[in-house]
Amino acid sequence: MNKYKVGSFFAGVGGIDLGFEKTNLFEVVYANEIDKYPVITYENNFKLKVDNRDINIVSGKEIPDFDIMIGGFPCQAFSLAGYRQGFNDEKGRGTLFFEMIRIIKEKIETGKQPEIVFFENVKNLVSHDSGNTFQTILEELKKLGYFVKQQVLNASEYGNTPQNRERIYIVGFLSKEKYEKFIFPLPIKLTKKIEDIVDFEEKVDKKYYYTEENCKFYNELYENMKNEKSIYQWRRIYVRENKSGLCPTLTANMGTGGHNVPLINTKYGIRKLTPMECFMLQGFPDTFKIPTTLSNTRLYKQAGNSVVVTVVERIALEILNVINI
Ligand SMILES: C[S@@+](CC[C@H](N)C(=O)[O-])C[C@H]1O[C@@H](n2cnc3c(N)ncnc32)[C@H](O)[C@@H]1O
Repeated sequence: MNKYKVGSFFAGVGGIDLGFEKTNLFEVVYANEIDKYPVITYENNFKLKVDNRDINIVSGKEIPDFDIMIGGFPCQAFSLAGYRQGFNDEKGRGTLFFEMIRIIKEKIETGKQPEIVFFENVKNLVSHDSGNTFQTILEELKKLGYFVKQQVLNASEYGNTPQNRERIYIVGFLSKEKYEKFIFPLPIKLTKKIEDIVDFEEKVDKKYYYTEENCKFYNELYENMKNEKSIYQWRRIYVRENKSGLCPTLTANMGTGGHNVPLINTKYGIRKLTPMECFMLQGFPDTFKIPTTLSNTRLYKQAGNSVVVTVVERIALEILNVINI
């Protein structure tokens, strides 16, 4: 059976791509990503060669045709933790969404408009600038003929992944009938536990452990991190335990100054989660291949920037339900 062709933008390490491809009925035929480091991870795991150019210079006329456009466009511009600039971000990040709109218009000119669009972003995209930002996105899609549904889904409720991660998913169809039939996945019971992903009994490389020598707030950590099997977050002046049995939202800047990778307490000491554990807390399979050539700082960033694969896969299956008719 022919697979539906996917064009992937802001592809990162390919979390959305993987969610679609796991259904076996979608195939990514084109992926674009400007940062060469996630491209290394992407190409380590997919057969496809990534177009490593700035999306601003990519024309819809020169890239392969696809049935569905996917894109987790950069969220810094919309994130509350970011610059609160939205479409006016001076670095142009907030405007990158419009590059996807431009590419769709160029595809229309060649007679091959994608039937479906799928976007993922931070939850507060909806409330940014009193809702104007999101309204603009919806209007742009409507002008191109898409009927759009969106929903905020938490990975712990919809992806059977023990991370507290709320993200907005936006799905648009050219066909009104398919749009009307499409429903977002329903919540599912969370059966996967942190300890199914993080091996608390395992001794990992010593660089992951905090000691009195390498950590100036070690005593505070030691005093506050009494529970094994909990994930903690160092919040500059206090340690927060995530009592819900969930990993806190992984972020792109974890592992860089001031923002710390979540911590656990094990019989071998207090340690950071490893990059692979972070990928798995994003719903990536344990077969996902992390390049050994990349620094941990880069890998933590890539994991935090990505999506929860299992949530995307469930949405992709719902899309298939309406296009396979
Ligand atoms: C939120 S991340 C998306 C991550 C992706 N969904 C994944 O699963 O890894 C946004 C990505 O957009 C990329 N990006 C930012 N500006 C870009 C540009 N001008 N052209 C192409 N990609 C860009 C960033 O390098 C980053 O990897």
